[in-house]
Order: sequence, then structure tokens, then C-alpha cells
Amino acid sequence: SRTLRLAVIPGDGIGREVTAEGLKALNAALPADTKLDTVDYDLGAGRWHRTGETLPDSVLEELRQADAILLGAIGDPTVPSGVLERGLLLKLRFAFDHHVNLRPSRLYPGVASPLAAPGDIDFVVVREGTEGPYVGNGGSLRTGTPHEVATEVSLNTAFGIERVVRDAYRRAQARPRKHLTLVHKNNVLVHAGHLWKNIFDRVGQEYPEVTTDYLHVDAATIFMVTNPARFDVIVTDNLFGDILTDLAAAISGGIGLAASGNINPSGDFPSMFEPVHGSAPDIAGTGKADPTAAVLSVALLLEHLGLAEQATRIHDAVAADIAQRSAAGPRTTSQIGDALAERVAG
Ligand code: IPM
Ligand code: MN
Repeated sequence: SRTLRLAVIPGDGIGREVTAEGLKALNAALPADTKLDTVDYDLGAGRWHRTGETLPDSVLEELRQADAILLGAIGDPTVPSGVLERGLLLKLRFAFDHHVNLRPSRLYPGVASPLAAPGDIDFVVVREGTEGPYVGNGGSLRTGTPHEVATEVSLNTAFGIERVVRDAYRRAQARPRKHLTLVHKNNVLVHAGHLWKNIFDRVGQEYPEVTTDYLHVDAATIFMVTNPARFDVIVTDNLFGDILTDLAAAISGGIGLAASGNINPSGDFPSMFEPVHGSAPDIAGTGKADPTAAVLSVALLLEHLGLAEQATRIHDAVAADIAQRSAAGPRTTSQIGDALAERVAG
């Protein structure tokens, strides 16, 4: 038998509500010989207001011991923008070297897409997670004057690009269509853009079965709306990936369904799974939040831990539930969570 040590960071707003439902699905999915050992961590706006802390080193050390982390949502309008994002969420992604930010998009049958002709949407964005403009390499000069200058330098290393590109090729190779698209903006961002493209082409020689193409990010947004079915796996930098995956969520049922994994493929650090949506303070506590994205994030967690069959059971449960959602009428967060867990249990 095996014990899964799971650190849970419910966070703010609806984070607490949706992680509770994610855990129900996880409990229902786990094999009988696997014991779930969860520890809750009080991090987010509440802790910051009480203590001024975002992520103390002692907590980071404890989290490091976990097999995986399940995160709800971070952020609250009462906390200045950037404090929790940089001090907690990005700190975790950087400290645990989550260089593969995995964001699948699938249009489940029965889900209304805002697109008139969505086609068969089933792609995954491999967003680089530890570099690009997210590294905090910037500064301000002449602050507060009319001549203020701000820089936010995008950091791109051959090492960092190659490892995420390689991961994306591996994922493309394992999928039926075996297609990989690089998204960047190398007609303008020539330094970073060409480094990405050169590495993409070089690594591609090791994957002769994977077909590839390249799109500038602006063109990629057009295709994502006019013909999203063309995409299979997309690999892109941290900021382009952030923007593109919100669009990807919007065309495939909304952020209520969008799951993500912040993955450290080497296993040197725990990977972290979280819905793409935020803390939605406007609906927190009303039972209106859709826990499906959190539940699908649990499926990504299971897949990462090598429990592919259990992950499939969650996907099947979500597909079956979604197929009869309009017939089911309005349900609360926990009613949806219970229905999903029940289907997972079988
Ligand atoms: C996301 C979020 C984060 C990001 C923010 C909250 C730091 O938008 O997970 O997509 O930009 O990565
Ligand atoms: Mn985002």
C-alpha cells in the first residue's frame, strides 16, 4: 500500500469551496491500496492580513515534503495587486521549478461554446512556467515623475526553453495526432523568438513522427477563434501562454472548466494543481462556483502520479455530468461535487 501526501492550499474566495469538491473526487478515485494524507495550509489574503506573511520559508520547507499540492485560488481585492501573486503563487511555481505549466482545453459534448463553429476542440497548451517576463527582472526609474521609466525584461535561457520544448514534443508524440505548434512573436521579439525557434527545430529532429508548425501569437489568437480544432499541442512562453490559455478556456466552456498543472517533471519538487480561475470574491460563499475545474485539476494530479486509469474515471465522470447539466437544473457547488464524486466511485 502507498500513502499520498497531499498539501492543500484552499486559498481565498471560492478556492476553499472548490478544493473541498476536488478532494471528494480524489477520494472517490484513489485505488483501495492508496491512503490519502492531506494537510491544509492557511495561505492567502486572510493570513496576509493577520500576519503580513505570504509564504514563510518554514511553510515552503513543509510543502516541499508533499507528493503533490492542490491549490484552490489566491487573491482578494483587499490585498494590493501583485502581493499574493508574486509572494505566494509565483513564489511556489519558481521555488518548486514548475517549468511545465500544463493547460488542456477540451470542448465536452453538451457544453456551449461562444464560437458558432467550434469543431472538435481538444488541445493542450504547454506554457513555460519559470522564465519569460514573469521573472521579476525589471525596475523603475524617476518614479512618480512625468519621465518615469519602467522595464520588465523577459528572461529566456537555452536550458529553460529546451526542457519545456522537449516536454511538449514528448506529449505530442504520445497523442494520436502528434502535432506541435510553437507560438511566439519572432518577427518582433527577435532575440528570444529566434532562440525558441532554433531550439524548437533542433529538438524536433529527435521526434520525426511529430509534425510541427509555427505561429506568431497574434495569429494564434485568430486561429483559436476561427479554427481551434487545428491545435493539438502548443508550446509557448510564460506570458503568451497565460493570455492564450484564458482564450482557450473561454472557447471551451469557460474558466469554470479549465484545469491546470504546474509540473516539475523530474519529481525533485512537488507539482501543484489548480483551476485556472481566480478566487471570484463576488460569488464566494454563495455555492454558485463550479467545482469542475478543480475536479479536472485532480485528474491532472492523478495522471502526473501515474494513476492514468483513475484520471480517466474523473474525465468520464465530468463528461457524463456535463452531458446532462442543463437537464439537471441549477445545482450548488457541493451538489455538483457530490454528483461527480458519485460517478467517479462508480
Ligand atoms: C494564471 C494567473 C497567474 C498567472 C497570476 C494570478 C499570477 O493568471 O495562473 O494564469 O499570470 O500565471
Ligand atoms: Mn492567467
